[in-house]
Amino acid sequence: MGLVKMKELLKQASEQNRAAGAFSVGNLEMVKGAVKAAEEMNTPIILQIAEVRLPHSPLCFMGPMMVEAARNAKVDIAVHLDHGKTLAVLKQALDYGFTSVMMDGSTLPFEENIKKTLEAVSLAREYGATVEAELGLVGGSEDGSTDEGIRCTNPGDAKVFCEKTGVDALAVAIGNAHGNYPVAPRLAFDVLKAIDETTDIPLVLHGGTGITPEDFRKAAGLGIRKINIATASFDSLTKKAEAYLKSEGKHDYFGLNEAMVQGVYENVKRHIRIFNCAEPLSFS
Ligand code: 13P
Repeated sequence: MGLVKMKELLKQASEQNRAAGAFSVGNLEMVKGAVKAAEEMNTPIILQIAEVRLPHSPLCFMGPMMVEAARNAKVDIAVHLDHGKTLAVLKQALDYGFTSVMMDGSTLPFEENIKKTLEAVSLAREYGATVEAELGLVGGSEDGSTDEGIRCTNPGDAKVFCEKTGVDALAVAIGNAHGNYPVAPRLAFDVLKAIDETTDIPLVLHGGTGITPEDFRKAAGLGIRKINIATASFDSLTKKAEAYLKSEGKHDYFGLNEAMVQGVYENVKRHIRIFNCAEPLSFS
């Protein structure tokens, strides 16, 4: 129990033919809510933060808090840097004890993405850490600040990319995008199946918010072993905080803290239920 390598957690998910939830956090309340849900569901999770979030949630505060929360948890938790862009930030995260990092070279030409990913793999190996990369282009961006469109991952390229980089997990683009979808997306399961058949590493689905429970489970049946959820947790936190502040009576930080924790806890628990594939589908 406690802090584990993401590779171990994904291996376990693979053996159980399910996906592990990777939940983005931005403050103390989000960390508490996610860990509480994981412990209650007795299910390992990944706690993650993306490089673009660091101006709001500096790594020097978030890093030690996330790692310490994982160390003290009653379930296995991996701590991950999401959408890393620079080796310097990857190194900082690894120095804080993160057990995995993502190098996101998805906007780069193929060969440059390979080169950048190889640098990340070489750095992470010094720490025994797991590396995720992205091939193809997931729509939008983690904080909604940019959108270069969606470019589906080419299965043949994915095979070459994995062989050349030795990466541990691959984020795929199959019609998924970050942020709230206007309508639930139609994921290209034929492409996912082809990628799964040509590669033999765990696949990652970004842009989890708004994907239907049925599609989550279908994706898990086709090699998706990690599913990223960010927007749904931020939204759930905000809704609970709003409701608390609009409720009757006096308000204080401590009540607000509990409301924020509760918002994230409820969202994370709801997704863990779906990802575990053990219960019939229900989305409430
Ligand atoms: P959402 O914000 O759409 O849940 O995406 C999260 C994500 O993919 C983080 O990398």
